[in-house]
Amino acid sequence: MKDLSNDYPVDTSVKPEVEAFFDPDTNTISYVVKDPTSNACAVIDSVMDIDYAAGRISYGSADRMIKYIEDNGLKLEWLIETHVHADHLSAAPYIQQKLGGKIGIGENITVVQDTFGKVFNEGTEFQRDGSQFDKLFQEGDTYKIGNMTAFAMHTPGHTPACMTHVVGDAGFVGDTLFMPDGGSARADFPGGDAGVLYDSIQKVLSLPEETRLFMCHDYGPNGRDIQWETTVAEEKEHNIHVGGGKTKEDFVKFRTERDAQLAMPRLIIPSLQVNMRAGEMPPAEEDGKVFLKVPVNTL
Ligand SMILES: [Fe+2]
Repeated sequence: MKDLSNDYPVDTSVKPEVEAFFDPDTNTISYVVKDPTSNACAVIDSVMDIDYAAGRISYGSADRMIKYIEDNGLKLEWLIETHVHADHLSAAPYIQQKLGGKIGIGENITVVQDTFGKVFNEGTEFQRDGSQFDKLFQEGDTYKIGNMTAFAMHTPGHTPACMTHVVGDAGFVGDTLFMPDGGSARADFPGGDAGVLYDSIQKVLSLPEETRLFMCHDYGPNGRDIQWETTVAEEKEHNIHVGGGKTKEDFVKFRTERDAQLAMPRLIIPSLQVNMRAGEMPPAEEDGKVFLKVPVNTL
């Protein structure tokens, strides 16, 4: 694997301010990433709350992020989705409506939309071209958050559209990696691939060793407190699935066996239907009511 850090605009002298927001219901960590030289910021992987049993959505998590941004006088430029999440719903449209900014995701969202458009038997009115998003990132694309240059690395394997976003010395890995004692995310969703995930993890680990890495999830393995920040050096040395020189063959065997035993995430059915639409609900029925589907014996 070539050293990709040479091809990307890596500048670890730029140190964005990162504020984390933990959602205990889904173990998701959302971030506000702020440019230290201006009031510009980005939101990464926001959460819309759902009581699935009651079919009720709410915005307590998103409102906490909005309040933080407003209280600090920040200007929201981007709402980044690292991928189409299967375990929580995105609040990006809700936050965008209040604060502006562009919603961006990896260009392979079209592959995900095609797959799950079929799973949920969506009609032709469901566009599978990514047009629900403001920006579709390609491998290596750069964009600005204030004076900072951010870039997107395509890191598929967990899903086809997964991107790791790097800003200065901070990398937002989505579900490509977990904390060192958490290992890695599953690779058995449609379009997932354990070997591809291994290669993507190597790509992340080719960033400079001091790069701060921010996780999208943490489950506090072995009873430890929730954590979300580590470094490339720590992951390389200690990650229980890929660190300390584990081979691709080791990883694929382990990951495949482990994934075969995992149940579907509790919120996968509502999450996919909403997140493949950039966080919007399916269109309302004629009487204005909104429904989510449950595909029977499909997932
Ligand atoms: Fe995920």
